[in-house]
Amino acid sequence: MTKIFIVIYTTYTHIYQLALEVKKGVESDPEAEVELFQVPETLPQEVLTKMHAPPKPDIPIITAAKLAEADGFLFGFPTRFGTLPAQFQSFLDSTGQLWSTGALKRKFGGFFFSTSGQHGGQETTAFTSVTYFAHHGVNFVPLSTGLPYQGETSEVIGGSFWGSGTITGSDASRPISEKEKEVARVQGKEFVEIVGTYVRGTKVSIVNDEISVDNNNNYTNNDVSTTTQDARTRSIKKEKNEKKKKRFWICCKSDSFLDD
Ligand SMILES: Cc1cc2nc3c(=O)[nH]c(=O)nc-3n(C[C@H](O)[C@H](O)[C@H](O)COP(=O)(O)O)c2cc1C
Repeated sequence: MTKIFIVIYTTYTHIYQLALEVKKGVESDPEAEVELFQVPETLPQEVLTKMHAPPKPDIPIITAAKLAEADGFLFGFPTRFGTLPAQFQSFLDSTGQLWSTGALKRKFGGFFFSTSGQHGGQETTAFTSVTYFAHHGVNFVPLSTGLPYQGETSEVIGGSFWGSGTITGSDASRPISEKEKEVARVQGKEFVEIVGTYVRGTKVSIVNDEISVDNNNNYTNNDVSTTTQDARTRSIKKEKNEKKKKRFWICCKSDSFLDD
């Protein structure tokens, strides 16, 4: 299974609705296991009431430690002054222990956004958030290969190569458009394809050929070479294994590799 977490912050629910579309895209992979979470709110209810914020979506609140369970995570947030909201920063700032233990290394991450305006900063939000991934050793997955509508000018469409998105209008009254929903689903689908390929690849264990590959991509030669083993046999085996290792990196697909 490929475990994907979608983690959001939302005030007016646009990001929640976009997350539901991203989730549908991830679920297109039958081997995917996807869970939706939100980060803790940091504003008091009194302030949220003054902001006319509706109730929070009915989804669990994530803890920093939980992140380590996923193979990949997609973070969704509304832009605040051209960057990510304090609520999400506060959550990410609580991941220091995960950083110190390297718990998120070699995982995958991506973003999706909402802004009130077309030029409100969806790209700067991604640009300023990607540092968290870099420091944690998380591989950033952009939305690039399958970005539909990238050149369309007939209507306002959120999202970019950095991730899917929606434009809410100044009073947050604009619903997510069908095209924005479609792009969000494409992002979920593309993301799980990439993460899934990696997860399956790292779980290859070539028992018969005496090579194991663990989740950290370390190769182990299980050949218990004893002093009685003929040196020539060992050398031929070593050569064969080297070839296998090279081919593993080329095809990187467990099933085609094991078919040989
Ligand atoms: C303090 C604050 C700062 C904001 N900054 C921006 C901004 O820089 N650019 C922008 O287009 N919208 C900005 N907005 C609007 C939000 O991005 C918009 O309300 C949000 O995308 C709606 O998403 P949600 O329904 O998931 O909360 C800001 C809103 C607040 C409350």
